[in-house]
Amino acid sequence: MKGTFPVNKFRELETPFYYYDTNLLRNTLKTISSEAGKYGKYHVHYAVKANANPKILSIIRESGLGADCVSGGEIKAAIKAGFPAGKIVFAGVGKTDKEINLALDYDIFCFNVESVPELEVINELAAAKNKTARIAFRINPDVGAHTHANITTGLAENKFGISMKDMDYVIDRALEMKNVKFCGLHFHIGSQIMDMGDFIALCNRINELQEKLYARQIIVEHINVGGGLGIDYMHPNRQAVPAFAEYFETYHKHLRLRPQQTLHFELGRSVVGQCGSLITKVIYVKQGTNKQFAIVDAGMTDLIRPALYQAYHKIENITSEEPAEAYDVVGPICESSDVFGKAIDLNKARRGDLFAIRSAGAYGEIMASGYNCRPLPQSYTSDELV
Ligand code: LLP
Repeated sequence: MKGTFPVNKFRELETPFYYYDTNLLRNTLKTISSEAGKYGKYHVHYAVKANANPKILSIIRESGLGADCVSGGEIKAAIKAGFPAGKIVFAGVGKTDKEINLALDYDIFCFNVESVPELEVINELAAAKNKTARIAFRINPDVGAHTHANITTGLAENKFGISMKDMDYVIDRALEMKNVKFCGLHFHIGSQIMDMGDFIALCNRINELQEKLYARQIIVEHINVGGGLGIDYMHPNRQAVPAFAEYFETYHKHLRLRPQQTLHFELGRSVVGQCGSLITKVIYVKQGTNKQFAIVDAGMTDLIRPALYQAYHKIENITSEEPAEAYDVVGPICESSDVFGKAIDLNKARRGDLFAIRSAGAYGEIMASGYNCRPLPQSYTSDELV
């Protein structure tokens, strides 16, 4: 089964471009709100890094989600899109003074702090402004997620977070500082996680750490479990809205929260991944020695995931109904990794056909580059193309 696209409208547009199905995005957001809403104390922050397209940000903001930002630029984009500063969390191992000052000026909800030197700088900069910064410590839970090595983050060997054995020490440091308020613990184990068992392992680890803190009479205001829920790249039409019910229920069942504690999530991919496709035109069909290539006008500069992570994105020829043939779908960039798929069965392709590279809404447009002096891809939403 192919996705449905406004192909006639597409033919009038210059390719390549990102196309966002905003009905699907809105349905996804509704599901998130209703499923998270069941538990009363769950707060979802959208991970802006997945897609900061202003049209997308504004729809997400309308749904009431907060924002998870990793740079001053993302904080500005979130504020511009109307996210309340009081719902912004700020993460990242290398926050600069300028970025910290910006976040302090906006009075964001919380800094997710990744080291003692960073804590000291936040305390100093907050003191200079006569403010108190709300902080959570990002603890590295040493929980492995069954996903691509480049996108696991919660292992001891990763650069992220503070190791569990240092937790008491960093908390003591924060408690003696005047201009930071220690209010939470933050975790993130990786991305594109399909096995709920990984999240259960995280819950178990958090329960252990919380027991240690209770023993010291410390009950933090909030726990932030990061993001990571995966999407079905193989079948973008089958379960278009990810398994949010199961995801939130997993936390409800396995994480022991105290009555006054709130639980925060930072979801990126599962919010926007499925609603985006990269639409590209076939420039040439080229017969190789023992295979044929469909050479398209999009390249790894527009969508780098296949080249960088060997990621699979389903490809469809949305303008042909002719019997399928096998193609290597490649871009025009001067790199041999500029390949979207090898030996893919597609309806017979001819010059000028349009391909949809599916599930490209997350970490697609935002990771585009100008390599080879190429322009950045345009974007359209289904609202704009009716
Ligand atoms: N919170 C933190 C601290 C993160 O590092 C990330 C993603 C998220 C939340 C959002 O995770 P999500 O819900 O989207 O899985 N470019 C890669 C993914 C990198 C993810 C980085 N961190 C890709 O294209 O697969």
